[in-house]
Order: sequence, then structure tokens, then C-alpha cells
Amino acid sequence: QKGGFASFMDKEIHDQPSAVADTLRGRLDERGKLKLDEGIIAETVLGAVDKIIVVACGTAFYAGMVAKYAIEHWTRIPVEVELAHEFRYRDPVLSVRTLVVAFSQSGETMDTIMAVRHAQQQGAPVVAIINVQGSTIAREADAVLYTRAGPEIAVASTKAFLAQIAASYLLGIYLAELRGNKFPDEIAALLAELNEMPAKIQLVLDTSEPVRELAHSMVNERTVLFLGRHIGYPVALEGALKLKELAYIHAEGFAAGELKHGPIALIEPGQPVFIVLPSPRGKEVLHSKVISNIQEVRARGARTFVIAEEGDTEAAHYADHLFTVPQTPTLLMPLLTVVPLQIFALELASAKGFDVDQPRNLAKSVTVE
Ligand code: M6R
Repeated sequence: QKGGFASFMDKEIHDQPSAVADTLRGRLDERGKLKLDEGIIAETVLGAVDKIIVVACGTAFYAGMVAKYAIEHWTRIPVEVELAHEFRYRDPVLSVRTLVVAFSQSGETMDTIMAVRHAQQQGAPVVAIINVQGSTIAREADAVLYTRAGPEIAVASTKAFLAQIAASYLLGIYLAELRGNKFPDEIAALLAELNEMPAKIQLVLDTSEPVRELAHSMVNERTVLFLGRHIGYPVALEGALKLKELAYIHAEGFAAGELKHGPIALIEPGQPVFIVLPSPRGKEVLHSKVISNIQEVRARGARTFVIAEEGDTEAAHYADHLFTVPQTPTLLMPLLTVVPLQIFALELASAKGFDVDQPRNLAKSVTVE
């Protein structure tokens, strides 16, 4: 069942190229029209949406954060991302023009179920991005876009995360088309690039040995920090969550720009800091700003582990360890940059002798509020 891997999690990390390929395959017609798997929300309703709220928990919430950057940019519809368990208690402003998008691997997370029900009671249409067929959220949502990651056995979510991100790109492209695509060239290029993604993820997996070696040298760390900016921010948060839940090491993810507003006080000599570096080909200013952040933590003695794109000639100067991923448009980068962080957490937890498939105190799906 583990396909020759030592754990389900390791297998599922290696399933990611096919999880993304399967999630993307055959979903959009030549007009960019998305085929939802179940249920229908009328195009007139979707075309009139003036706000999107993503509701989710844990790793699915971070997938929702990634989706916000992409969907908001392509559609120009404001997107909020909310932890499902906070959502209904703050009395959110909802209407038939608010599209609620629930992200859940299991479709059985009670917090997310309750958020979906609350949205529907207020008249908001709900699309669910779900991995488990026929699960509660899949049945109750107005429409479903299934991720096709296959069964995810390990408690820590990996391939479902990538599949959720891929599915959310499809939803974003679909909504953009529906509303008169303002970026036809960009979206055409993205669709082509998405086809390349499984091979690029495979390349990251094939070159992951240095991350595994690094993890084995860090079993005695007490705290690890993760920095990211823009679409790298949710990746940093996900890297920290993986390390917490698998290796039981204190880990924090920060928006790199927030560093100077407090977290930099944590930096002392030897502190390990992972940095998800934006592409120098993207919004160039972001690359140089994060380079400045790296300089700030290095000046205070931090050890820096930098995830950068291939061909970033500056990154090596600021990294104690540099890990590169293939080039891709900025909005697609999380599909690649999160993989080394997943492997790092898996390997560090394994080196400490922990059960990576079944971490202490955690359940695969949280069916209580
Ligand atoms: O099944 P769901 O996607 O709704 O689960 C949400 C979270 O409970 C889940 O992502 C959790 O954070 C994982 N343990 C993360 O690895």
C-alpha cells in the first residue's frame, strides 16, 4: 500500500505530480469553461458575484490563501479567506452575490461543514473543493469541484494541498472567463504552464536529497522560523505547520514584511530560518525586499535556508543552504516551493523516530467543532 515508501506521507508526497495532473485533466473546455463535478450554480449567479469568501481549516486554509492571490488577480473580485471556525461567529456579511468556496480534503471537517451551512442559510451559493467523493460537504454544497488526489492516508495533508491549489486555479480561470477575461494572454500562458507542472514537481522531488540531508542535521533544533511574502507567505505558514505537526518542533511562519514589526526580536545566533524567495522575474521589488529581510536576519546570526527559483543568481549569496525549484509564473510557485518544506518536515520527524503518518494528538479529519 505504501508503494515501497517508508510511510504513507512519503508516498503521498511522491504522488503529487499525478495528483495535480489528475486534478487538472480535462476540466476546462476551449472557452475556459469549467466542468463542475456535481451540482450547478447558474452562470448568471456566478457572473454577478461581487465577493468571494474562502472557508477552510489548517492546510486547506493555506491553500485558500494561495487561491486568494490568484483568483483576486485574475477576476478582480475581492477574495477573503477565513478560518471556518471563526466565520459564522463574526456574523459575516453574505448575500446571493457572495460566493463561498469551502476547501476540505475530507469533506467532513465539522468547522467547515458548519461554515457552509451558515453561508447557505444566509443565501450565499457554496462551491466546495473536496477530495473525498460523496462526503458531507460535497453533498451539501451547491456545486463541487473534486480534487483528484486519491486517498490521503497520512494525517498530515500534502497531495491534497497541491490538488486544492490546482483546483482553485481552475475555478479562478473559469470565473475570469465568465466575467470577460481581462488577462487573456496571461491566462493562456498559465494554462500551458499548468500542463508542465507535474513534470516540474517531479523534478523538485528528484532533487530533494539535500533537503533530506539538512533535516537529519537538525534533529536537535528547538524552533524554526519560516518567512514568505505575497504568494510565498501561505507557503511559509504551511511549512511551519508541517514541522509542528510532524516533528513536534516549535515553528512559526511569518509574512516577511512583518519581521520588523516584532518577530525579528526572536532572531539570535544560530536560529534556523527558511525563506521562500519570490522570483526575481516577478514583481522585482518583492524579490529585493525579501533579500533585505534575509540580510536582516543574517546580520543577527540566523542560519538561512532559502527556497529560490532556478537562475536566481542573487539567492546563493544570502543562503547557508539554497534549494532551487524550476521557474514558473509567480502565482503558480506554491506548487513547487512547498515541496521541499514538506520533505524537510517528513525527514526531520522520521529522523527523530516519530510516526509521520499518525502524529500524536491529531486525527485525519476533525469531526467535532
Ligand atoms: O479535511 P480538511 O481538509 O477539511 O482538514 C483540514 C485540516 O484539519 C487539515 O488540513 C489539517 O490541518 C492537517 N493535519 C494538515 O496537515
